[in-house]
Amino acid sequence: MRKACVIGTPIKHSRSPLIHRYWLSTMGIAGDYERCEVAPPNLPEFFTQLRNDSYIGCNVTLPHKEAVARLVDKLDETARLTGSVNTIYKRNNELHATSTDGEGFIGNINWRHPKFTFQAANVMLLGAGGSARAIVHALLMSGVDAITIANRTVSKAQTLADEFGSRVKTIGHENLAAAAPQIDLLINTTSAGIADDQALIFPFDRLNRHSLVTDINYVPLHTPFLQQATQTGLTTIGGLGMLLHQAVRGFELWFGQHPMVTEELYALVARDIDPSYAP
Ligand code: ATR
Repeated sequence: MRKACVIGTPIKHSRSPLIHRYWLSTMGIAGDYERCEVAPPNLPEFFTQLRNDSYIGCNVTLPHKEAVARLVDKLDETARLTGSVNTIYKRNNELHATSTDGEGFIGNINWRHPKFTFQAANVMLLGAGGSARAIVHALLMSGVDAITIANRTVSKAQTLADEFGSRVKTIGHENLAAAAPQIDLLINTTSAGIADDQALIFPFDRLNRHSLVTDINYVPLHTPFLQQATQTGLTTIGGLGMLLHQAVRGFELWFGQHPMVTEELYALVARDIDPSYAP
């Protein structure tokens, strides 16, 4: 039986098994998907297992997204340019690695707001970590006109902007209010208010009424950042759909069939996060 898994530590809260098992069962495919607790010193041992056919591939989550790059045989362009891997699969006895986080982000916006056009859009991105890098790459590939990055540590935003060229710029927090009215899409990639209780301050009231606001965090489903945007009357898109959409290509690479992100799947995972969730 074909079996895939997700590796990371801590891994017990990963919702990936719920997603892939839902697709395996609804599509009638014989297979399984497990959680594997793998600490950094045990990565080489896991890769020996992987090469020995215990798994047909895996997802990679924190803290291994960068480290696994040197343990595979082939990195695709997205993995190279984003310096991050979240999906590994086998072809001709070689381990191939890619990153689907960026397409998960784009897929979620297209799913929830099909009328939004990335072409020529003006985007503001808060944060400059690994997720921000994957999203900047995907946004540029989707044809956005400009990306403005704001980050607590300004030098990290600058490094990211320098890496991706002239369409990407940085902005200081003191200039956010002046830049806000021109924004079509505002993205929070920071863990402010999630990992700590320092909720992010943003001048939501200066945004154009037609702009979209999204957050890559999905616990809680409606994050403090999105709650502030909703209170200002803005349209918001939660981050859970990004998790669902980033899973699509891995499933297809391992099990050979294209799965669909459905409202039923969304509700299944949303209820796992918040049992009181109702569509
Ligand atoms: P990921 O890989 O998910 O992007 P990360 O690399 O740890 O995670 O990045 C977390 C991001 O959240 C960073 O941009 C971080 O800002 P710094 O670069 O200044 O560390 C941002 N962040 C975390 N807590 C924050 C807070 N309380 N206020 C503002 N930004 C915060």
